[in-house]
Amino acid sequence: MTRRQLWGGRFSEPPAQALRAFNDSFGFDRALLAEDIRGSIAWAEALGAADVLSSQDVKKLVTGLQEIGSEVAKTGVPSDADDEDVHSFIEARLAAKLGPLAGKLHTGRSRNDQVATDFRLYVKDALAEGAAAARGLALALARRAEAEAATPMPGYTHLKRAEPVTFGHWCLAYVEMLRRDAGRFDDAASRADECPLGSGALSGTPLPIDREALARSLGFLRPTANSLDAVSDRDAAAEFLFAATLLLVHLSRLGEDLIAFTSDEFGFAALPDALATGSSRMPQKKNPDVLELARGHAGRAIGELTGLLALLKGLPLAYDKDLQLDKEPVFRVRGVLAAALPALIGLVEGLHLDRERMALAASDDRLLATELTDALAKRGMPFREAHEIIGRRIAEAEARGSTLAALGPTKEITSQDLQALDVGRALGKRDITGGAAPRQVARAAKAAVRRLTRGAA
Ligand code: ARG
Repeated sequence: MTRRQLWGGRFSEPPAQALRAFNDSFGFDRALLAEDIRGSIAWAEALGAADVLSSQDVKKLVTGLQEIGSEVAKTGVPSDADDEDVHSFIEARLAAKLGPLAGKLHTGRSRNDQVATDFRLYVKDALAEGAAAARGLALALARRAEAEAATPMPGYTHLKRAEPVTFGHWCLAYVEMLRRDAGRFDDAASRADECPLGSGALSGTPLPIDREALARSLGFLRPTANSLDAVSDRDAAAEFLFAATLLLVHLSRLGEDLIAFTSDEFGFAALPDALATGSSRMPQKKNPDVLELARGHAGRAIGELTGLLALLKGLPLAYDKDLQLDKEPVFRVRGVLAAALPALIGLVEGLHLDRERMALAASDDRLLATELTDALAKRGMPFREAHEIIGRRIAEAEARGSTLAALGPTKEITSQDLQALDVGRALGKRDITGGAAPRQVARAAKAAVRRLTRGAA
């Protein structure tokens, strides 16, 4: 059967099967069906407002498009649909309903400004969803930070015990990353808030369309300012992928920390059963697959982002068919965020802490060697000299399998100095903005919870 082609006239042969198999995009751009219908309804109304179409014709077109929308919402896209792309599919359905009138919808429009508009609408939703997802996880972490503001745990550098912090302080580190992620989605959304429709194929529609009103009717702040740019600009998609990728990179770091904390070796926390997985062979296993998948997806998203940037690089103005390949990476990454964030939120909320084990690890007094050094320096000893003395004392403690405290005072280290070897005291001293003192953590967590429940970053 020959299908309805949007561009048949100048061709003496129908498209070859090989062309269709390679060129068609309906297999994936059907995901833009709702956006395409929205865009077409707005275009039909704009044609009416410009007196290009009669109000009766506009009414029929709008009703037909609405019907197609609700039919597809009910029954899905028919499995025998064999259309080039989502635009051809909708126009064919409209023609089946309205006959030749359907052919008037495309007056003054091109698939180039049409698809740019559809995709922009889609990306705007994806950006809003990304921001909300990042804030959702930030809120879960901020709540835990509030509850665990004074729960000591070792802080690490190079994954070696470094100085004590609190579990709440650790949570707030990720709250900050997620806050910036949400802000990046918001920033991108404000730049994406321009409507390409009316840019035509590349030079602008010749019809007297009120593009300001058209843009507003589709929920955009304003129309795009240059038609060549508008039909070929995919910055919003690239920005979505970057914001999503950096979010996933942050999630992969969170994942890596929690994989360590829930390992048998650390034992600081246990995963909630409902968000852990088992082994088909080893009955004892409780595995952190959710965290590992977050880590894995960060790697894949980096590929999706670089793939789109490579696709865009060097494209001559204006539209090129390469741009048809812009959509799937965004669809896939949006899907990853939609699946990953709820799982991670549940995991953070349900994480069981072993506070005793964390406190024990945090009371390893080597974590307080900096404190002891500071105590000597405070008495007037040059810091470098104090560092050397405490370093030697640490070596001695390690050789004897002792703690610093148990080694007792020396001629250089007074018993007064040794009082610095106290986790609570060390934490309490970090009482500055951004520091690990429980008072500061509680304050920062409370402020974060307040902001995030308001929906602000
Ligand atoms: N399916 C095409 C895309 O996604 C629609 C635009 C086609 N435009 C064209 N000039 N062939 O990019």
